[in-house]
Amino acid sequence: MNKKCIGIFDSGIGGLTVLEEIKRLLPNENYIYYADSKNNPYGEKSDEELKIICSNIVDYLINNECKIIVIACNTATTRCIKYLREKYKNIIFIGTEPAIKVACDKDAKNILVMATQATVESKRTEELIINNKNDKQNIYLVACEGLAHAIEIDDRDKINNIISNIYEKYKDYDIDGIVLGCTHYPLIKDEIVRYFKDVKLFDSSLGVAKELKRQLELNNLINDNGKGDVTLINSKEL
Ligand code: DGL
Repeated sequence: MNKKCIGIFDSGIGGLTVLEEIKRLLPNENYIYYADSKNNPYGEKSDEELKIICSNIVDYLINNECKIIVIACNTATTRCIKYLREKYKNIIFIGTEPAIKVACDKDAKNILVMATQATVESKRTEELIINNKNDKQNIYLVACEGLAHAIEIDDRDKINNIISNIYEKYKDYDIDGIVLGCTHYPLIKDEIVRYFKDVKLFDSSLGVAKELKRQLELNNLINDNGKGDVTLINSKEL
């Protein structure tokens, strides 16, 4: 196992969209990517369940010499990053949150935030809206039940059904920005823009990668000698 690598986890393949961006910015680090497919989806779990699930993963990553942990999942971040930071005081956690600030800063007027039910209902999402939206902007939250799981198992019909239902509901709202508030959703960008033709899509990957780099530099943890190796762990196979 890699010594002193960066640990990244998600409920499955979604966080790979974050890892891709991180590797672009930090090509000389080594990584452990933990896909928790066994517990997918996170979006319909209670906070108590998520705390146990995430703690087990964090223990695994710490036991495997991770120097910093990226929660490449909006659901786990919005529901339990505070708990994890309290519990593991010596570990630095980088979270992934819906890119509501970026969408608001880029002046999108009618913004659809697609996320899991747990993310949509989180206090953190509410804060992100209050802190960033101006009076001329409208934000519509959509809990995309079943979507992350459909992406995880590559159920094309279900993905299409869910997107087409969302489109039917919002087609007259003049949507010009969509926040992909779940790390699985960048994997279906093509399906989304097939319906929502003239929208800008916003996700958090670049922001997460930049914050990770900043924290590594700040804490003297940068590795210049790694080769960008990725060790893939799937909880179904443990
Ligand atoms: N990829 C995750 C997120 O960003 C979790 C999706 C799920 O497991 O429900 O929220």
